[in-house]
Amino acid sequence: MSNSFRPAEATIADEIAVQGYAIIPDFLSASEIAALANDLRALQQSGEMRGAGVGKDAEVTNNVRGDFIHWLEESFASPAQQAYLQRLENLRQAFNRTLYLGLFEFEGHFASYPPGAFYRKHLDQFQHDSQRALTCILYLNDAWQESDGGQLRMYLDDQDDTLYRDIQPQGGTLVTFLSARYWHEVLPARRERLSITGWFRTRAAQSAI
Ligand code: OGA
Ligand code: MN
Repeated sequence: MSNSFRPAEATIADEIAVQGYAIIPDFLSASEIAALANDLRALQQSGEMRGAGVGKDAEVTNNVRGDFIHWLEESFASPAQQAYLQRLENLRQAFNRTLYLGLFEFEGHFASYPPGAFYRKHLDQFQHDSQRALTCILYLNDAWQESDGGQLRMYLDDQDDTLYRDIQPQGGTLVTFLSARYWHEVLPARRERLSITGWFRTRAAQSAI
């Protein structure tokens, strides 16, 4: 069978199976990314992006991460957000067909990092929720340059800090990885850095809460 056209979802599922992560440039088109970035800007203007460190563990969190977030809600989703959520639903089905991960639901938020903000090295799964199985990050930045900083640094070996891969937060790029396996951090950026970060959770989360 020809592989000249394969949905990105199938490629991602294969790469997750082989190496536990996948980096896909142009998962969404430039116009889809622009629409999502506009949604984020509207949330900023209406004061709906909140410091991720605000909350009961604010003191700890402020040294850890400097981003502002807004959780996606299906019932308030714009057409652009609905389209992205549908792509993620396709991805969830592709994973469940081939990887038997038993992914059940997606939770995600817009994130904006002001210049200088960072997110220190962490593991998504144990920090907040042990049922986060797969992390998905979509970047919304136009013409990102290496000199802008803000790379996602993915540590490839939890025993060796010198082995890592730096990923540019280029608009349209989707990064997915097994939440329990990969430590990662966001390096400080010189310009504002926009994304949608989310997690597929396993069904066990529902009964555990
Ligand atoms: C997170 C995270 C990485 C990124 O929000 O947990 O690690 O590149 N984000 O935005
Ligand atoms: Mn993370």
